[in-house]
Amino acid sequence: MKIVVLNGSPRPKGNTAALIAAFKEGCESSGHQVSVIPVGTMNIGGCRDCEYCHTKGGGTCVQKDDMEKVYPALAEAEMVVLASPVYYFGLTGQLQSAVSRFYAVGAPAAKKWALLLTSGSPDVYPAIEAQYRGILNFIQAKDLGIFEYDGKQVGTEAAFGEVRAFGASL
Ligand SMILES: Cc1cc2nc3c(=O)[nH]c(=O)nc-3n(C[C@H](O)[C@H](O)[C@H](O)COP(=O)(O)O)c2cc1C
Repeated sequence: MKIVVLNGSPRPKGNTAALIAAFKEGCESSGHQVSVIPVGTMNIGGCRDCEYCHTKGGGTCVQKDDMEKVYPALAEAEMVVLASPVYYFGLTGQLQSAVSRFYAVGAPAAKKWALLLTSGSPDVYPAIEAQYRGILNFIQAKDLGIFEYDGKQVGTEAAFGEVRAFGASL
């Protein structure tokens, strides 16, 4: 299966990237194709609500930025993973901008989704979980797993092993 991971972290060698690497390893051990898109370091503006996409644009966005690399990957993906550090109880602004741009296409085609989060503190995930479940309900997609690691858990072999096993189980 084709899996697209959107990494919202601006740190290419950060905690989220390390977690994604373990997940990817597990996926690949089971023959899946994983494409990690570092939206946290890309030039992606937030949706402007100009409605170009739903009028003249025919489902394409008026903004010509790095989202042009994300849309084709999303169109092919059978599974989408949102991966992000928690920033003030939410996704990073970078990932939120990319998510807001889903608006142009209505809904990514993938019906299988997962969420990977890293944070400094424990119990800081409810707002993101609510958004994630709202998106899945809206697009009629299925959650395959939510993985959350705070500052004490992130970077441990236990965490890596868990997401690696998850990837391998898909
Ligand atoms: C701007 C900013 C806001 C953050 N807000 C939170 C927060 O609300 N709760 C929390 O537990 N950790 C918070 N953190 C810590 C990060 O979520 C945590 O260090 C994360 O693992 C960083 O991931 P990365 O290395 O992949 O970038 C914040 C960090 C930054 C830089």
